[in-house]
Amino acid sequence: MSYPTTARWCKALMACAMLLSSYAGAADKLAHVTILATGGTIAGSGANSTTTVGYTAATVGVDRLIAAVPELAKVADVKGEQVFQIASENMSNDHWLKLAKRVNALLAQPDVDGIVITHGTDTLEETAYFLDLTVKSKKPVVLVGAMRPGTALSADGPINLYNAVLLAASPDAVGKGVLVALNDQIHAAREVTKTNTSTPDSFKTPELGMLGYIQGNKPYFYRLPARKTTADTEFDISKLDTLPQVDIIYGYANANPVALNALVSAGAKGIINAGVGDGSLAAPVKEALIQARKQGVLIVRSSRVGQGIVARNGEANDDELDFVASDTLNPQKARILLMLALTKTSDTKQIQRMFGTY
Ligand code: DGL
Repeated sequence: MSYPTTARWCKALMACAMLLSSYAGAADKLAHVTILATGGTIAGSGANSTTTVGYTAATVGVDRLIAAVPELAKVADVKGEQVFQIASENMSNDHWLKLAKRVNALLAQPDVDGIVITHGTDTLEETAYFLDLTVKSKKPVVLVGAMRPGTALSADGPINLYNAVLLAASPDAVGKGVLVALNDQIHAAREVTKTNTSTPDSFKTPELGMLGYIQGNKPYFYRLPARKTTADTEFDISKLDTLPQVDIIYGYANANPVALNALVSAGAKGIINAGVGDGSLAAPVKEALIQARKQGVLIVRSSRVGQGIVARNGEANDDELDFVASDTLNPQKARILLMLALTKTSDTKQIQRMFGTY
């Protein structure tokens, strides 16, 4: 058997070294994306492969989520952090403040190009909008979830996570505000909403439309957010440990003010009325809202309808009542904007401006 000559050994070693350096070079060229894991179905597990409801959310850690999608390494240099591990119906203001502060700290680092947040879908739209109003950077922040646990047939979590990382690594996602990526679609935080309790196409932006698609390993944008987001926000949570209590009451035929009065007695600083129609107020509720306003509680007229503008001075004389109209924000997002607004002012004219700005 003839052994390779020294020259051949050197040639082989040189080839290996060049190959490794090309990989290292390629890895070095990949965007640096941090995945912040918070729980939800994307980290969920079920009893068997056909369990798509009745599973347990928030059981799988961030390292296993990343290991389950080795393709991530082709699109970004990925690191993972487990910020918390909850089903997102348990999301709280404290969770939001902790998450927003961590996002801002990471994005201030030059070696972080984008962030992906894995999250339960129940309150994903709310966390996305809270971050849209509090992230102080133009770098991509992408929220992602799943409608089926990883143990299920055709689980949507792995491909949703792959697409979210690919989007967060893309220069095209810079300066577009906080994004939500599920089901091969790209949505803006302000308008996206969960429209189905269990199907993979649940997240939609009805009427105003999604921003684009992720297809064939590439994001495609066709629209841009029209309102101020992220780096252009006037809100600063860096020194906040709590947020003002703002609650929501729901409108319906034969509504009464019992819940409203209880919330005001419990110390609510703001009330969002998820009214019928164009934010209409049943007489008993309207009278109780007027009394609440006289006690200094901020009142925002929103609508349970879900789409369309709640017009100022439309179904109620907001000028006379000193109420605020929610524009197109649904009640759960109007609550977030009012909470942040109350960290800066209680002036209704200023707050109405904010509802026309974000
Ligand atoms: N408990 C729900 C949540 O964590 C599960 C729904 C999901 O994540 O898709 O939001």
